[in-house]
Amino acid sequence: MPGIRCGMNGNYQTPAAILQASFLIFARMEKKKEIVMSGIRPTGFLHLGNYFGALMNYVKMQEEYECYFMVADWHSLTTHPDTKELRNSVFRVLAENIAAGINPDKACLYLQSNVPEIAELYLLLNMLAYKGELEKTSTFKEKVRLQPENVNAGLLTYPVLQAADILIHKAKYVPVGKDQQQHLEMARNFAQRFNHRYGEIFPEPEAFNFGEALLKVPSLDGAGKMSKSENQFATLYLSDDDELIRKKVMKAKTDNGPASPDSPKPDYIENLFLLMNLVSEPSAINKFEDDYNRCTIRYGDMKKQLAEDMIRFISPIREKAESICNDKKYLTEVMEKGAAKARKSAKATIELVRQAMSLNYF
Ligand code: TRP
Repeated sequence: MPGIRCGMNGNYQTPAAILQASFLIFARMEKKKEIVMSGIRPTGFLHLGNYFGALMNYVKMQEEYECYFMVADWHSLTTHPDTKELRNSVFRVLAENIAAGINPDKACLYLQSNVPEIAELYLLLNMLAYKGELEKTSTFKEKVRLQPENVNAGLLTYPVLQAADILIHKAKYVPVGKDQQQHLEMARNFAQRFNHRYGEIFPEPEAFNFGEALLKVPSLDGAGKMSKSENQFATLYLSDDDELIRKKVMKAKTDNGPASPDSPKPDYIENLFLLMNLVSEPSAINKFEDDYNRCTIRYGDMKKQLAEDMIRFISPIREKAESICNDKKYLTEVMEKGAAKARKSAKATIELVRQAMSLNYF
């Protein structure tokens, strides 16, 4: 077979060898992708705020980064000791994430409790975390207020476990919102302390900045953002059925309409437009903008349109999530594949950690 003259020594290479060599180069390029890690707490249902505020960006990131998306079931035990309920939530949250676009063949989607190396790193990092700083953490103080009868040590060391989640993959970027900035700062501190004491192992993880891509999803009652815990009737969940979506949207606060042309919009009306921007066609949005500016707007019609567009957006995700959730065989495959990949990365790190700490006795 005629070969092609190439390679360092100018030998003749067969096409198969060239193919193999390019595959190896490609594989190495693949490896170079920057590492992204984030955790999803399996409590509560996913809502539109989770989707546009986080999930949609995860879906984009899985194309360009080596992504580790973890369901934080151990973390949930700090607030939700009922493991029967937790189990169902874990399956549902996996299904919802996949239905919303996380592709388990691209991103590594796994459960925290399937990666015991995280627990080992957590134990070691605990010796570098001080009681004082843990007690000062805002989320800890809030939990003490919310569940004074169950201020367990897991709650106190929650940020240490989160640091272990991130550092076990040597992640560079952590796509999280403002409420997690303090935890991320602590992860950086623990990484620094480790590196300083035992040798440079961990990169310092940073928040991933989405910039413009971060969309605000206001709640339907005109007060704040859609959230898991506050007013559930003002939040649209990815699991809401069509009728419930209609009911929630139709109940959104409005008024008699503007009194003069081109008036500024009150917050709760502005919010309806913001929601429309997420799911409606530009032509529909423009129509209602014009109606508003000409004082001919009929909020009933606007909400009907918004409800139907929300249904068009949410119902395919809901139906997909339901069918995935019922397919335990598929979910098991996803969990196994995710665990294997996550453990491979975690094992490599924990080996380095043991070496750095001289804990490798034989
Ligand atoms: N604490 C995060 C939250 O409440 C969830 C989480 C657990 C996490 N481990 C993580 C987030 C690691 C980012 C990285 O949402």
